[in-house]
Amino acid sequence: MPKKRFLYIALPVFVGIITWQVWQIATEKEVKPLTKTWEKAVPHQQIPKGLASLSAAQCGACHQQHYKEWQHSTHAHAWTDLQFQAELKKESSPYLCINCHIPLQNQQEFIVTGLVEGDIYQPIKTKNPHFDRDLQQEGINCASCHVRDNVVIGTIGSTKAPHATKKDPVFLSEKLCISCHNANAVVTPTLVCTFETGDEWKAGPYYGQKTCVSCHLEPIEREIVKGFGKRLSHLHYFAGSGIPKRKGAKTKGLNGMTFAPSKLQKTYKTGQEIAYQITLKNEYAGHRLPSGDPERFYGISLVLMDEQGKIVAQKNDRIGEKWEWWPTAKKLSDNNLNPKEARTFELKYTPTQKQKLTLHAQVTKNRLDKKSADYNKLGDEYPLFITVFDEKHNFEVK
Ligand code: HEC
Ligand code: HEC
Ligand code: HEC
Ligand code: HEC
Ligand code: HEC
Repeated sequence: MPKKRFLYIALPVFVGIITWQVWQIATEKEVKPLTKTWEKAVPHQQIPKGLASLSAAQCGACHQQHYKEWQHSTHAHAWTDLQFQAELKKESSPYLCINCHIPLQNQQEFIVTGLVEGDIYQPIKTKNPHFDRDLQQEGINCASCHVRDNVVIGTIGSTKAPHATKKDPVFLSEKLCISCHNANAVVTPTLVCTFETGDEWKAGPYYGQKTCVSCHLEPIEREIVKGFGKRLSHLHYFAGSGIPKRKGAKTKGLNGMTFAPSKLQKTYKTGQEIAYQITLKNEYAGHRLPSGDPERFYGISLVLMDEQGKIVAQKNDRIGEKWEWWPTAKKLSDNNLNPKEARTFELKYTPTQKQKLTLHAQVTKNRLDKKSADYNKLGDEYPLFITVFDEKHNFEVK
């Protein structure tokens, strides 16, 4: 029976080929190397000669003022931040989130060497034998910016430091800041990394005049270690939005925006139009406002109330980006203020009766909206905004 014999031979061969192909697909997945800076950690750092650890706390034993200032900075909270921790727990968050928030390999539990098929959800991980959990808690610590190749990098070069030191003002410049504060990449269709503070600065009027460092690390004459004499130093608050990480926590902010409100009369007549304006201007920031995180926005609220507190007119505006995240992330609108750009908001009302009125003008700087905060269950301890302008006018319609 030749036909059956054929089957006896062909079937095992056929099954064999299929099995071999399946096995091929399963084992020969292409491993893509990591290329972009934020796809990988800063390689493992040895402790520079003369020091006992890489921790900020240890640098702080001698550089007490730098340490105190840094502790107030958001950099010190880049790992512990409640929203960051909430986001990190989601399955949709890829491994690479941590590379700008805990940049040193020493701070990371796993070493990632490549991606299976270039898929960011399939990193090739091994346990990091040198993982230091205390260092992880410090987020962007002193060593993140100051330690490379076993030495402490500085910009002075002539100090009698007890630790190995190298002068490298090019490394410790805006180039360092931009390595984290400028990213524009479509990671997956629903996950994009877009904050372009560096590009905004390059396109603006401060480029060539002032840098991230000259505005955010204010120069000051002081001792950098007690007893070593005064020299040119720089504040390490990394002051920015000024929105604190915890309710009641101290944070230094800078003021980029100016507010010019119009005046109101003491009395108006019925039928006479009441017009209140407020002009916001990005006077001092070297980039757009808000900058960075696309969730940030300014809220402008103009409310006119009668004596009973009943709202007779109101206007709510927003400066910020609007995004749709699903099914594909796309920016719907963006009205952020360019450096030196101004915008006026107006509330108009024509009263028809005699009454006493109060106009309440308020501007808030927001980290993220209440809806996203609730979705992430961030709780009451995480401040969502600060009020940057607040004014009330009382007047009468006669
Ligand atoms: C045992 C004390 C001590 C510790 C710990 C210490 N430093 Fe220093 N550091 C000094 C002294 C002293 C100087 C020189 C001060 C001077 O001449 O004004 C110095 C200088 C520096 C400079 C300027 C170097 C230059 O040439 O530009 C930097 C930057 C610096 N330290 C960063 C750090 C960092 C980051 C750490 C922690 C990883 C650290 N230091 C830990 C004592 C210390
Ligand atoms: C290793 C990555 C990294 C580097 C390098 C870095 N930053 Fe940051 N920076 C961050 C992250 C992440 C945050 C936000 C942390 C958070 O809010 O939890 C931040 C926050 C800030 C803020 C506060 C923003 C706010 O909303 O108030 C300022 C200002 C800032 N950085 C300025 C700088 C400057 C200036 C430099 C260069 C000297 C620099 N950064 C270098 C990652 C970095
Ligand atoms: C986000 C990056 C960043 C972090 C984090 C950081 N520094 Fe600096 N630091 C700088 C830059 C940039 C300069 C140089 C400014 C210049 O000279 O233009 C500097 C300068 C210094 C200097 C030289 C003296 C001075 O004030 O200019 C010392 C000392 C120093 N840092 C210590 C520390 C210590 C200690 C910590 C942690 C508590 C720390 N730094 C954290 C970026 C950083
Ligand atoms: C001309 C001065 C100036 C320069 C240059 C500058 N900044 Fe700023 N930056 C500010 C001021 C002022 C604010 C505070 C804005 C506010 O909240 O009112 C700010 C805010 C920020 C914030 C918080 C943004 C937000 O919307 O809350 C970040 C992050 C930041 N700067 C990073 C940088 C980086 C990175 C660079 C360099 C590429 C840089 N800045 C250059 C002045 C400057
Ligand atoms: C290229 C560097 C980089 C990567 C990668 C990165 N971040 Fe950030 N992250 C920043 C910087 C810079 C800030 C400072 C905020 C700003 O620019 O206003 C920040 C701020 C934040 C904040 C605080 C926002 C606030 O309002 O205080 C959260 C939360 C956060 N990032 C989550 C994430 C998550 C989740 C991922 C991974 C999907 C991620 N980050 C990946 C650089 C990075």
